[in-house]
Amino acid sequence: MHIIKVCTGGSCEKNFGSEVLKRAEKVLDINVGETTKDGKFRLEKTGCLSQCENAPNVMFCKGTNPQPEVINHCEVKTKLLPPRLEAELTHLKNDS
Ligand code: FES
Repeated sequence: MHIIKVCTGGSCEKNFGSEVLKRAEKVLDINVGETTKDGKFRLEKTGCLSQCENAPNVMFCKGTNPQPEVINHCEVKTKLLPPRLEAELTHLKNDS
């Protein structure tokens, strides 16, 4: 499972953070806090990822099915404006 954690800290919020979150909800067709019907994606908010200078930031994690809280690997993608986020999510959806 891919767990998408959109930073909602102050710097990311000021740099299109809300638009990033809305775009993620639209592309994944779920609301924040939900999991897609196929169980492949979960969307979450997170606090500051300590990379404010590169806002907006999104952390991509891999969780274990059926226990997504067991995280295997996370990667922060920086300067992830809505169009880039959409491209990343589309790529992941097509891959999984
Ligand atoms: S507010 Fe998002 S990384 Fe600091």
